[in-house]
Parts: sequence; C-alpha cells; structure tokens
Amino acid sequence: MSVPHVALVTGAGRGIGAAIAAELAGSGAAVVLGARTLSECERTAAELRARGGSAFAVELDVGESASIAAAIARARELAGPIDWLVNNAGIAVSAPLLPREGSTDELYERHMRVNFHGARRMAEGLLPAMKSAGYGRIVNVASSAALRGYRYVAAYCASKHALLGWARAAALDLESSGVQVATVCPHYVDSPMTDASVRTIAAKTGRSEAEARALLAAENPAGKLVLPAQIAVVVRGLLESDANGALVELDGSVPRYHPAAR
Ligand SMILES: NC(=O)c1ccc[n+]([C@@H]2O[C@H](COP(=O)([O-])OP(=O)(O)OC[C@H]3O[C@@H](n4cnc5c(N)ncnc54)[C@H](OP(=O)(O)O)[C@@H]3O)[C@@H](O)[C@H]2O)c1
Repeated sequence: MSVPHVALVTGAGRGIGAAIAAELAGSGAAVVLGARTLSECERTAAELRARGGSAFAVELDVGESASIAAAIARARELAGPIDWLVNNAGIAVSAPLLPREGSTDELYERHMRVNFHGARRMAEGLLPAMKSAGYGRIVNVASSAALRGYRYVAAYCASKHALLGWARAAALDLESSGVQVATVCPHYVDSPMTDASVRTIAAKTGRSEAEARALLAAENPAGKLVLPAQIAVVVRGLLESDANGALVELDGSVPRYHPAAR
C-alpha cells in the first residue's frame, strides 16, 4: 500500500483554500491547514475530520519568515514529512494607481510580502526536504491577474505576475529533481475575497451588491464566477500528476491547460 501524501495548504481557513483542503482530505491525503486565523483553520479541519479525513490546523502568517518556519515545524510534528504544498494564501486590496490616491509603497510591499515572497518562502522552507526525498509537488494559486491587468489592483496584479514568473523559473531549476511546480490562474471566484470586492464596489458606486457581483461575473470569459471546488479538483490533479511548469487558467468554463510555462 502506498504511503498517503501529506499536504500543507496555506490560507485554508475559508474560501478556495478550504475547498482545496477538503478535496485533498477526501482523496486520502493528510492535510495541514494554515492561516493567521487559527480558529477558522481549526473549524475547517474539524469539519474534514468529521467526514473521515485526516486534517490538522496550524497558525501561519506567510508574511513573516519566523511564522513560516514555526508552522512548517509544527505541521511536520502533526502530520509527518510534507510532500505537497499548496501556496494559496493571498490578499487583494484595491486602490487607484498613484501613491497619493492609495497605491502606496506600503500597499505594494504588503501584496509582495504575502502573495509573492510568502509563497516563495513557503516553497524554500519545504524544498530541501522534498529534494532529499526525490519527490514533491508545489501548486501555486496565482490568478488571471498573473496573466493580464485589472483596474484598481496594480499591486495585486504585480504580486501575482511575480509569483508566476518565479514559478516558471523554479520549474526549470527543479527539472530532474523529482520536485515539480505548477500554477493555477483562476478568474473571479465565488469566495469571501470576492464578497469583499462586491461590498467595496457597491459602496463606491452606489450599485446594489447583486449588481456588483454580476459585474464581476461578467468580467469572466464564461460570464460566471469560478467555484472554489472547480479549482480544488484541478489543484488535486496537478499534485497527483507530472505537470512541472504547468499553468492552468480557470475562467468558469473548462480549465485551459497552457503549455508548460517556460
Ligand atoms: N477570489 C478570487 O476571485 C480569486 C481569483 C483568483 C485568485 N485568487 C487567489 O486565491 C487565493 C485564495 O483566495 P480566496 O478568494 O479564497 O480569498 P479569501 O476568501 O480572502 O481567503 C484567503 C485565505 O488566505 C489567508 N491569508 C491571508 N493572508 C494570509 C497570510 N499573511 N498568511 C497566511 N494566510 C493568509 C486567509 O486567512 P487569514 O486572513 O486568517 O490569514 C484566508 O484563509 C488568493 O491567493 C487569491 O489571490 C482569488
């Protein structure tokens, strides 16, 4: 019998990360759920255990190197050697382009620290052990904002482009190591992050929340929001396969597999 995989999913307390954790736990993997709000991860992990899964919660702030080191150590204590990493934790704060209008250095630095450096440092924390074992899978949850621009989220777009660029280079550097890196790029997703965007649009434009949600759905090529469970199935497929450098775009219709990202 093969040994079950051990997955660490960042930003797993709610939204897309919680759906990925559920999909992986359902596949028989042991899953460690990490985020800053430990109570949310504990609640989600308890739900997965109630459904027969193996799930643990750790406190994790991917914006802080010390927190990353502590969370990885705790995750190993709880679940054993980690061979799957899902870099899902992320933030998105909208602001007009110029510093005096809201896109300050601090806003850029916060997005880069969490969305790019956080994911990179998580990978760096796990890569030595994965390389020694000759096996590991890392899937990054980037965004369609890694492939194109969107209005009022320059800091977010920049951080997601950085993450995809890093993933492309890392896939090349890890070739033949047994460790593989892949990236998913969802368009607007039905998650608490999008709920927050809906509230912001409604407050700033006077539209109803239903109208604001319809606006975001209409931005997606398929005209509807992507469901977290759709992303989770694709992430699981990437973790279970050989897909080094793969990039999968999810726009609410059929997932689009781009050629290996080189
Ligand atoms: N929603 C969309 O339309 C959409 C589209 C494309 C890509 N994405 C990406 O998908 C990922 C998940 O998004 P979502 O929509 O599920 O967002 P969400 O509902 O806001 O959930 C974000 C998760 O990330 C965690 N998180 C945030 N900052 C963190 C930090 N510094 N350290 C650790 N965990 C942190 C949050 O928990 P705590 O706050 O407790 O830490 C939460 O569990 C993000 O990377 C996002 O950019 C989202």
